[in-house]
Amino acid sequence: MSTPVIGMSRRAQLYRHVSRLEKSPITSLTSHITKRTDSMNVDKATIEQAPQKASELRASQVYKENLEFWHGAWNMCTKPYTKMPDLEYVPWLPERLRKASAQSILDLGCGSGWLSVYLSREGFTVTGIDVADHALELGKQWADMESLQIKFDAGDLGDLPYADNSFDAVVANSIIEHLPLSLAVVVMTKLKSVIRSGGTFIGCFDKVGTGPGEYFKLEDGTQVYTDKSRKGMMLRYFPDEELKELLTGWKIDEFKTLDSGTRFVVAHT
Ligand SMILES: C[S@@+](CC[C@H](N)C(=O)[O-])C[C@H]1O[C@@H](n2cnc3c(N)ncnc32)[C@H](O)[C@@H]1O
Repeated sequence: MSTPVIGMSRRAQLYRHVSRLEKSPITSLTSHITKRTDSMNVDKATIEQAPQKASELRASQVYKENLEFWHGAWNMCTKPYTKMPDLEYVPWLPERLRKASAQSILDLGCGSGWLSVYLSREGFTVTGIDVADHALELGKQWADMESLQIKFDAGDLGDLPYADNSFDAVVANSIIEHLPLSLAVVVMTKLKSVIRSGGTFIGCFDKVGTGPGEYFKLEDGTQVYTDKSRKGMMLRYFPDEELKELLTGWKIDEFKTLDSGTRFVVAHT
């Protein structure tokens, strides 16, 4: 990852290198290192095999390097960046959560916690989980600055440390697209029990990974970046149909594609 620029939002810092490389004309470089396979659909076999595949993936070197990327990226941030992102769907989140009568919220892959802070300010009881402890430390500092009670947990989404019925709702902003398919299936399955019956899932899925870049592909289409600035980072584009299949067992209430290409999805168990 490139050096963070002071004054840029954390999200912008994390994606700056992604968009720059996706716009750069280096397709020829990627063509020989990229093993192209078509995206798989989330069929019954994929779902059945997901726990085994996810477990193998999590034990692999490639996954270790992916987590190292996130630790390294966050370690470059020295203090909480306390500006909220200017995204059109941000105000929709508390509105949809209230409509669903949700109070306790899990912020999946919370990073340094802008969404946790935002929802806590709005009166929700929030727990954020992320693999990067330094990101969580920044989130805690921010919460302390505003005297907000937010629980920040360190953990891998592939092994969510929560009992059944722990939350009314889960929010997942720009995170599922960083997981290979098997892991995304495992996470979405586990979430069904971690939230109470009738609980809500709100996912905001960026349109990422659709441009050129220096990466190789895993068999499920996940791009594993090899360029210096984002070495190890995994990115997988989930087409609309696949997102819907990923939500097998959930009832989809809303599926909106925004001008930015982000898909805003609300579902419940
Ligand atoms: C693109 S950032 C999004 C952060 C935050 N949700 C936001 O909206 O700004 C992805 C986040 O997911 C975290 N992450 C990536 N893979 C993870 C995993 N397997 N388990 C837990 N957190 C993970 C990263 O540390 C990073 O904070």
